[in-house]
Amino acid sequence: MDQIIVRGNGPLNGEIPIAGAKNACLTLMPATLLTDAPLTLTNAPRLSDIATMTQLLQSLGSEVASLQGGKVLALSSAQISNHTADYDIVRKMRASILVLGPMLARDGHAVVSLPGGCAIGARPVDLHLKALEAMGAELDLRDGYVHAKAPGGRLKGAVINFPFVSVGATENALLAATLAKGTTVINNAAREPEIVDLAQCLRRMGAQIEGEGTSTITIQGVQALGGATHPVVADRIELGTYMLAPAICGGEVECLGGRIDLVGAFCEKLDAAGVSVTETARGLKVSRKNGRVKAVDVVTEPFPGFPTDLQAQMMALLCTADGTSVLEEKIFENRFMHAPELLRMGAKIEVHGGHATVTGVEKLRGAPVMATDLRASVSLILAGLAAEGETVVSRVYHLDRGYEHVEEKLRACGAQIERVKGA
Ligand code: UD1
Repeated sequence: MDQIIVRGNGPLNGEIPIAGAKNACLTLMPATLLTDAPLTLTNAPRLSDIATMTQLLQSLGSEVASLQGGKVLALSSAQISNHTADYDIVRKMRASILVLGPMLARDGHAVVSLPGGCAIGARPVDLHLKALEAMGAELDLRDGYVHAKAPGGRLKGAVINFPFVSVGATENALLAATLAKGTTVINNAAREPEIVDLAQCLRRMGAQIEGEGTSTITIQGVQALGGATHPVVADRIELGTYMLAPAICGGEVECLGGRIDLVGAFCEKLDAAGVSVTETARGLKVSRKNGRVKAVDVVTEPFPGFPTDLQAQMMALLCTADGTSVLEEKIFENRFMHAPELLRMGAKIEVHGGHATVTGVEKLRGAPVMATDLRASVSLILAGLAAEGETVVSRVYHLDRGYEHVEEKLRACGAQIERVKGA
């Protein structure tokens, strides 16, 4: 298995291009299943999760061509030739459940394995299933699979009241509702930029949707959808991650394609910590000149709150802050698996349930550490960039699920980082 070796090397200076959002692309790709016309996604990121979704869609009969080195995905589903999403693919990635709504909406039946994904808590899919049931789906859970049918072959519009916010369940309901008979109202919908991006793409395909980006989305089902070309929105998590590189190491980095509206709550915390963020014509410029950052408290929340997917990286920053910070994780239980690894690097962290108390130290020290999930792995790289000596991060296959060319992007700003290929 590959390892990444990082040596703390002082301030970082330069520019980093931000890719299209993994999480947006993973929900846009299954939209191909809603139509027999071509769907083209531009600004796609080159990641192993995208390859997994490609494989899943191909297994269902879709054609997926990766063009321009993977930056453009040309998808076409003239018909769905296989309605079963197999465990062997689905277990690799939780977002695979997003093929359920579209298959059911288009053909009235689907069988999808219950998903796996990052080991950050129980992560059930009950809200996805309840939303589809509200739309008339009949579901049978057996042998690890959801067997779903729409009576009469078509879902019906419904009022869906989510008890709490779920990004994936909102996406599945939104995808399915575009072809349902009648009107669907999704209450307590997720407001993430990836939902807005999905709604915009679906509208380009002919869907009738209002209210995306608010807590209530209304969809008027149509008989059929057509093709579209859609650019994937910038990845706000990749953006936030690279914004933290100069914050933690010092220096000045411009994140090309970054937008403040994607990372508002995160920027407020950077500001409170003493890190400067300015909007430029090409993106966001982040700089920290001298001295340590200040401690800040962080609570993860659904958008527009502080994203859970930046919590591990923010913790890496706060490990070297002046003072004590409390991080509260409200989205996922068990999402502090990076803390014991940061401890190995000399951090002072105490975890109590959903809270982590971080007392900043002057300097972290390099150590061998292990990536436990996607965002944890990049937090260890950030910590390594700010540490004295060498940090060896193993199990970096997690990293490749969500960050393209991470070594090149950081090296271009002066970081000492290299990948050692494993067997
Ligand atoms: C998406 C993102 C993920 C991010 C998360 C929260 C993708 C591919 N992944 O994941 O990177 O960390 O949003 O911003 O877009 N839940 C249930 N039942 C359900 C669904 C969710 O109990 O049916 C719970 C989850 O366990 C979690 C919370 O709801 O505690 C929020 O999860 P959700 O917003 O659904 O996350 P995902 O869509 O899986």
